[in-house]
Amino acid sequence: MNANLKKLIRCLSDGKFHSGTRLGEVLGITRGGVWKLARKLPALGIEIESVVGKGYCIPCGLSLLNLAKIKNYIDKNHLAQIKKIELFDQIDSTNNYLMQLAQKLSAKKRNEIYVCLAEQQLKGKGRLGRQWVSPFGANLYLSMLWSFAKDVSAISGLGLVVAVTIADTLTSIGIKKIGLKWPNDVLWQKRKLSGILIEVSSEAYGIGNAIIGIGLNVAMPAHAGKLINQPWVDLREITDELQDRNQWAGLLINNLAHNLNLFRQKGIKAFLQKWRKLDVCMNQPVCVITPNDKVCGIAKGIDDHGRLCLKNKAGKILTFSSGEVSLRF
Ligand code: BTN
Repeated sequence: MNANLKKLIRCLSDGKFHSGTRLGEVLGITRGGVWKLARKLPALGIEIESVVGKGYCIPCGLSLLNLAKIKNYIDKNHLAQIKKIELFDQIDSTNNYLMQLAQKLSAKKRNEIYVCLAEQQLKGKGRLGRQWVSPFGANLYLSMLWSFAKDVSAISGLGLVVAVTIADTLTSIGIKKIGLKWPNDVLWQKRKLSGILIEVSSEAYGIGNAIIGIGLNVAMPAHAGKLINQPWVDLREITDELQDRNQWAGLLINNLAHNLNLFRQKGIKAFLQKWRKLDVCMNQPVCVITPNDKVCGIAKGIDDHGRLCLKNKAGKILTFSSGEVSLRF
């Protein structure tokens, strides 16, 4: 990203009005140059206001990411386990970045965690080939590369572990009414607050890589929100304030590192009780959509492997290890 554009975003991130003249002085360019730069902000997904006599402003401001601040929220023992945390201004997808990195790394050096964060994703990926709306500086786009030394089936419950981790992190900061929709949607009053995309690649020596991608809506600009075709919510609406994204990134990385260690030692059973407490589908009429089928019935929670149980019309319990659940509230 152009250095002046970055400086301009930083100046305006306080949410106050700054005159074109003053911004020009700070950036070492003309007022016209400031105007040209400011016109680039909407394409990044940043809302900008310009008022004659007052200048430019990003309404409500932005909480920009800063690696040093993020690391303050991560315990020393977890930091020691994290080989690298990288932060990009723009990237296609943080998951894609770590997938490529995983392919380059040597299989032997693998009890290490890699983290990638970005201010903006140009091709953010959601589940089932959907797009994940990722405007600049607004939300969290975070991926973690984690390796496991078993076959892929051993990590089938990983999505549930990550969902519980996000829910716990949210509740630890006082956010109430968090629920989980199988397999791993984090909801607030039935609106999506966070999504998880886990991609797995197996490789030689019995080591597999899981790329754990988390999107957390922090302060979605209105125009970007219009591109989302399901009920959603962000932390700004829930808490009525602009949240510090560094805090959320740091806490999520910390808690995820902790729970991944627990998952490695104890498996999914360490998380089942928590997941069940947060299950918004329990005893609700739902439909499970799989690539080839749509099956409706009453959700009956998850079994001990984290699979969804569904009671069909005939009273038979069916189990699903993948699929998309739609609630028929
Ligand atoms: C979902 O559809 O619910 C999953 C959304 C996952 C989005 C995150 S944002 C960080 C990471 N990079 C991506 O491209 N996707 C995931």
